[in-house]
Amino acid sequence: MAIITNIEDLRKIAKRRVPRMFYDYADSGSWTESTYRANESDFQKIKLRQRILVNMENRSTATQMIGQPVAMPVAIAPTGLTGMQHADGEILAARAAKAFGVPFTLSTMSICSIEDVSKATDGHPFWFQLYVMKDRDFIERLIDRAKQANCSALVLTLDLQILGQRHKDLKNGLSAPPKLTIANMINIATKPRWALGMLGTSRRQFGNIVGHVKGVTDMSKLSEWTASQFDPGLNWGDVEWIKKRWGGKLILKGIMDPDDARLAANSGADALIVSNHGGRQLDGADSSIQALPAIVDAVGQKIEVHIDGGIRSGQDVLKAWALGARGTYIGRSFLYGLGAMGEAGVTKVLEIIHKELDLTMAFCGHTQIDTINKDILLPGTFPKV
Ligand code: GLV
Repeated sequence: MAIITNIEDLRKIAKRRVPRMFYDYADSGSWTESTYRANESDFQKIKLRQRILVNMENRSTATQMIGQPVAMPVAIAPTGLTGMQHADGEILAARAAKAFGVPFTLSTMSICSIEDVSKATDGHPFWFQLYVMKDRDFIERLIDRAKQANCSALVLTLDLQILGQRHKDLKNGLSAPPKLTIANMINIATKPRWALGMLGTSRRQFGNIVGHVKGVTDMSKLSEWTASQFDPGLNWGDVEWIKKRWGGKLILKGIMDPDDARLAANSGADALIVSNHGGRQLDGADSSIQALPAIVDAVGQKIEVHIDGGIRSGQDVLKAWALGARGTYIGRSFLYGLGAMGEAGVTKVLEIIHKELDLTMAFCGHTQIDTINKDILLPGTFPKV
């Protein structure tokens, strides 16, 4: 096998190994995908200042996110249907994150359940991402289940009360488990590794939901299910009761505007995530990295600011850090590793990103990530407030 040296290598392997409907689900944005593309390409516009003859010994990328130690300021983002990219995907990614020393965030829309992941990682704390549905009984129980599992942060998603349209999902008839149509069977027949893995696990549907929500019979079609169950009336008042019921560290995900950031800071949450949901919701929204500086400027003294969207390298992590993000999340990057090689693939992703981060930091004349600010960026090349 060719030597894997970067995230793009893993993406290509994942594309070959994962059935089309699931690869496409991860690797697409809404409508024209302009925001999805800008998330990645806007990082390239930011240039770094090369510094020389600084002692580069004893480097460290270790820091904290929401007061918790991390080997680098990178968490695994919550992504739906992760267990469809690879059998038991959430468990494998959680194990890789635990071994590396970074947070793993489990999505509400995961295949492996909260309890599955907790058991498979020996009760190691992970983060849980919450979607709010109309059935508040279920949501209360879900919050309690996350507490029970020792989750050390709740990541509340605020930008998906309704689902952005992703053309490919509709065309592919995305469902979990996949419907055995002729087209799907032909496609899956070309993915023997994936199929074998799936035959070896019982986890093939939405583990947090099936069997826990009253009256839900068919939720395999994600778009229809989301439209009928997610609560379009979600508001800041809900954030308050959720915060109270949860009682632990709270991270608000999906902030793109300084006004919303101020409301988030006033809510008493521990962190917010600058995010346009990987370009999967409002196409035409700004890229995350463009939106970051104004939000850091507005609330960076009051609340920890994190970011997701477009991070495909350790250089991207460092640029976000330099612009004031105190944490970053990788979604597609880790899914490519998972789809390509399971747990070893996620470990590879973390190693690649760490190495890129560490070397870039050194080239910029620093040995400790905590001492880095926007002085490492070439003036005129990064978004200003
Ligand atoms: C769900 O979070 C999605 O973006 O599909």
